[in-house]
Amino acid sequence: MNVLILGSGGREHAFALSISKSPLLKKLFVAPGNAGTSSVATNVDLSITDFEALAAWVLEHEINMVVVGPEAPLVLGIYDFFQREELQHINLIGPSQQGAVLEGSKEFAKEFMNRHGIPTAAYKSFTKDELKEGMAFIEELNPPYVLKADGLAGGKGVLIINETEEAKESLEEMLVGGKFGAASNKVVIEEFLDGIEMSVFVMTDGRSYKVLPTAKDYKRIGEGDTGLNTGGMGAISPVPFADEVLMQKVEQRIIQPTIAGLESEDIVYRGFVFIGLMIVDKEPYVIEYNVRMGDPETEVVLPRISSDLLSHLNAFAKAELDKEEVKIDPRSATTVMCVAGGYPEAYDKGMEITDLDKVEDSIVFHAGTTLNGGKVVTNGGRVIAVTSFGKDFKEALKKSYQNIDQIDFDRMYYRRDIGFDL
Ligand code: AMP
Ligand code: GLY
Repeated sequence: MNVLILGSGGREHAFALSISKSPLLKKLFVAPGNAGTSSVATNVDLSITDFEALAAWVLEHEINMVVVGPEAPLVLGIYDFFQREELQHINLIGPSQQGAVLEGSKEFAKEFMNRHGIPTAAYKSFTKDELKEGMAFIEELNPPYVLKADGLAGGKGVLIINETEEAKESLEEMLVGGKFGAASNKVVIEEFLDGIEMSVFVMTDGRSYKVLPTAKDYKRIGEGDTGLNTGGMGAISPVPFADEVLMQKVEQRIIQPTIAGLESEDIVYRGFVFIGLMIVDKEPYVIEYNVRMGDPETEVVLPRISSDLLSHLNAFAKAELDKEEVKIDPRSATTVMCVAGGYPEAYDKGMEITDLDKVEDSIVFHAGTTLNGGKVVTNGGRVIAVTSFGKDFKEALKKSYQNIDQIDFDRMYYRRDIGFDL
């Protein structure tokens, strides 16, 4: 089988590494990829949102499967584009454009959850013309207030505010002031859930599904979960407190109705569902859906799948995922993200990353790197994710940190407290 993966982060490197191990694989390509993906696949210089160019390229290179990493091509309808006659034989892993709205619109996701009785925070949504009603709703709620831009805002569209007046001002900035551009033309205001977060990942061919390992990520830049939000500074899998009782609730109350809900609404969905949860007094609530795998969660979830990922994805083509056996490595996995100094604000690129070859017993997933004259240099805010295994997450983390000590680039920063709250 010839496979093309779309994306250029640690998530895509993790997909590439898992798929590269499959006996079913002939040729593996990543577009555009990074220095890490080039060690297990061939990088291709293609834009992941230029569907016409992608279509021509995959036909020319006899690609059998396209795995979509990030949400942007999904929200733009890459699945639907690939339903054209000449592309129909290609197994595109990702939901249809309609399915991608679960991530693309917070209001749609909340309405979907309500239609299917899936537990989530109480909410109301407001447009520009309903600013007054929105302010009145804020008055009704207890602080802190949770304001969410309806559309995609690069992970920045959620505000959690303690003061009533400030919440009202922010609502006005979002709806009228265009704070998040078109993404905040509509704002979801919801009840604050006080609990602990975790994520579950589900793989579905649209008929049956498999639950993948749980993970917890650390989004803030600073230790102790302080400072600005980032794409994710580290992750742990499995989540130690996600015991069987909790996971049974998650499966019955959340996963099953989500998959059944998609089917009953005729929403074509063949891909990954990433469900962000808040656990409040041992009860799970959905915070958000993403229609793709998480990054850096993928860097701990996929390495724990010890069965053939490509075989599982290949089964999507005939909706035969139920015949696959997904095997999970019982060990814990951790990943620690090394980022460029300054990130998530302005940062430099092009710094040489040294001594990657000294890493022992960990996997270095490249998140933002490129090759420059044979040298690996930084090419993004999040640069590399160092993944390790252990009998528990503490043992795994120790290995990740020991190996990070070997690696260096100018102004490298990472959090030394991943898992501190567990
Ligand atoms: P989202 O982009 O929807 O994942 O929201 C970003 C972050 O805001 C989440 O990871 C949570 O930490 C927090 N958050 C979102 N919704 C709520 C809520 N209803 N209650 C408490 N925290 C929330
Ligand atoms: N790590 C969070 C995300 O991928 O959205």
